[in-house]
Amino acid sequence: MSKKVLVTGGTGYIGSHTIIDLWENGFEPISVDNGCNSDVSVLQQVEILTGKKTIHYNIDLCNKTESEKIFIDHADIQGIIHFAALKAVGESTEIPLVYYQNNLISLMNMLELASTYKVKAFIFSSSCTVYGEGQKSPINEEADLIPASSPYGSTKQFSEQIIKDFCPTTDMKAVLLRYFNPAGAHPSGLLGESPKNIALNLVPVITETAIGKRKVMTVFGNDYDTRDGTCIRDYIHVCDLAHAHTLSLEYILEQRQPDPVDVFNLGIGEGLTVLEIIKAFEKVSGQKLNYILGDRRPGDIKAIFADNTKAKEVLSWKPNYLVDEIMKTAWIWEQNRSQLPL
Ligand SMILES: NC(=O)c1ccc[n+]([C@@H]2O[C@H](COP(=O)([O-])OP(=O)(O)OC[C@H]3O[C@@H](n4cnc5c(N)ncnc54)[C@H](O)[C@@H]3O)[C@@H](O)[C@H]2O)c1
Repeated sequence: MSKKVLVTGGTGYIGSHTIIDLWENGFEPISVDNGCNSDVSVLQQVEILTGKKTIHYNIDLCNKTESEKIFIDHADIQGIIHFAALKAVGESTEIPLVYYQNNLISLMNMLELASTYKVKAFIFSSSCTVYGEGQKSPINEEADLIPASSPYGSTKQFSEQIIKDFCPTTDMKAVLLRYFNPAGAHPSGLLGESPKNIALNLVPVITETAIGKRKVMTVFGNDYDTRDGTCIRDYIHVCDLAHAHTLSLEYILEQRQPDPVDVFNLGIGEGLTVLEIIKAFEKVSGQKLNYILGDRRPGDIKAIFADNTKAKEVLSWKPNYLVDEIMKTAWIWEQNRSQLPL
């Protein structure tokens, strides 16, 4: 059987780490990306790390005719891992239609092509944002979804629904992976997060401040009802996250998944405050971080962290990296980044 897997958003942060994991586990990943938030040079780093050359298509997945060329070239694709999306929560409130168009049309094109070309497995990048505000943590996959607080979050909720409606009408099975907060970098120090757009997540903001790209960083709100007043999140290392995609693919291709669509939380299962993350960074880097305490940011949830029991039991997944390694790999990557062509 062919081991070809199409990775959309393949030159992005999580996509590129997943391509490495797929090669390491005997799959043959093919990448597609339109480069709106990443650079194809990432695949040179992947080649250094795996010794494998990944075929890449520079295509906007909103263009179905162009996208179909991939399937014409590779009629035996077994699985699609669909990372491609715009992901900035704040920006999505300013240009919601761009988010709805990009994230939903690209998804529907991929689903339609997947069905036409008899793809067996579809893995979708969802997010803990689908749970919405005010839910009790640790949260499991059974929790009701509360309407999302941003157009970005809505695209993830709608995408999940589209997949749930479509898959039972086909022979394809799907896994929805709800990520908590992906962070960290490849332990080699040769690959990490290198977005074209400004980094907004806490960990890159910390490392960019420490290296001097930002003068100071703001902790948004220290009056939440938490142990130190700052928000609580669940951080998951990007390599652990990447491996969960390979395991999900195997779960479907080995015909172990009973239902047309299954869903898994992916987080370490432990909530850490913003100040605890900063302390972990200061410990592993030996640097004092220049930060100030600011006002709460609209839309931020007080606390959310995962119940990851299902991923552990059903996919045999487990997180191998904890917070210190997340911060250490992110810091090594930040220091190496300026020397690399990314
Ligand atoms: N990083 C996170 O914090 C996080 C959290 C939860 C969910 N997710 C989801 O995981 C997925 C991957 O995230 P990431 O952090 O790797 O982001 P990323 O921006 O690094 O990767 C996404 C890639 O998709 C590409 N892309 C976007 N629209 C496209 C289109 N129409 N056609 C072709 N390529 C397109 C971008 O150029 C980019 O390389 C996204 O769907 C994101 O919403 C990310």
